[in-house]
Amino acid sequence: MAARRYVRRMAAAEETVSFGFQDIPKEEKPGRVKAVFDRVARRYDLMNDAMSGGLHRLWKDAAVAKLNPRPGETILDVAGGTGDVARRIKAHAARARTRRGGAPAEVIVLDINHEMLRAGRRRGEDGLSWVCADAQALPLPPRSADAYIIAFGIRNCADIGAVLAEARRVLRPGGRFFCLEFSRLATPGLSGAYDAYSFSVIPAMGKLLAGDADSYRYLVESIRRFPDQERFAAMIREAGFQRVAYENFAGGVCALHWGWAL
Ligand SMILES: C[S@@+](CC[C@H](N)C(=O)[O-])C[C@H]1O[C@@H](n2cnc3c(N)ncnc32)[C@H](O)[C@@H]1O
Repeated sequence: MAARRYVRRMAAAEETVSFGFQDIPKEEKPGRVKAVFDRVARRYDLMNDAMSGGLHRLWKDAAVAKLNPRPGETILDVAGGTGDVARRIKAHAARARTRRGGAPAEVIVLDINHEMLRAGRRRGEDGLSWVCADAQALPLPPRSADAYIIAFGIRNCADIGAVLAEARRVLRPGGRFFCLEFSRLATPGLSGAYDAYSFSVIPAMGKLLAGDADSYRYLVESIRRFPDQERFAAMIREAGFQRVAYENFAGGVCALHWGWAL
């Protein structure tokens, strides 16, 4: 009965999007993603370290070094969750300020999920601004930010094009866009081991450390549905960014894409 109702809803839906390996009506995705992050928020930082063996720290450090936060800038960490990237940005900008002076950088963490923001604030405010907002409709005026980063967030959004269009809208001319996201292995020979790790070890770890295998299964599946490096670079160009390029980390497990709002 429930299955038949679901099939009818799918048929009536104007547009479907991926939710892990499932296709669901587009309007259902925000609620399903919210439920995932509500469940994982308290254990989110711990699980990141466990799943990546601490590698996510190196990838985030490399992304922030490339973004090169400067004193006095307004920098957005969109889908910023617990502010893990924003803290690195703030620290980098503060070091630059010690060397060359200037005003403090304003670093804003924006995330749609209250639980993730709450978990972040429990780690300490650290001079960050925290805003509950949708990456697809940012509560910011046009051309108001110097740099924008979205780390491991865009694949959770229902409309990637809308996220990119918003990034383009809020960046000033000369503004820098960065996206850190899981991507496609550049060495296909490693895909067997990678699949085994992703589909067996990560959900088991999620169950053990966060009491939740399903949320981590979704996270792994959502990675496989996300566009590969070249296709995503093309989407960034289509959104109006220039000089688009990317760099692979860990052989393509993760990729940093960037582009300029000229
Ligand atoms: C995997 S976490 C990444 C958090 C952080 N950027 C990091 O790297 O540690 C993904 C985040 O995306 C957020 N998110 C999902 N959909 C969003 C949307 N439409 N707008 C803003 N944030 C969203 C989730 O609430 C979650 O905090």
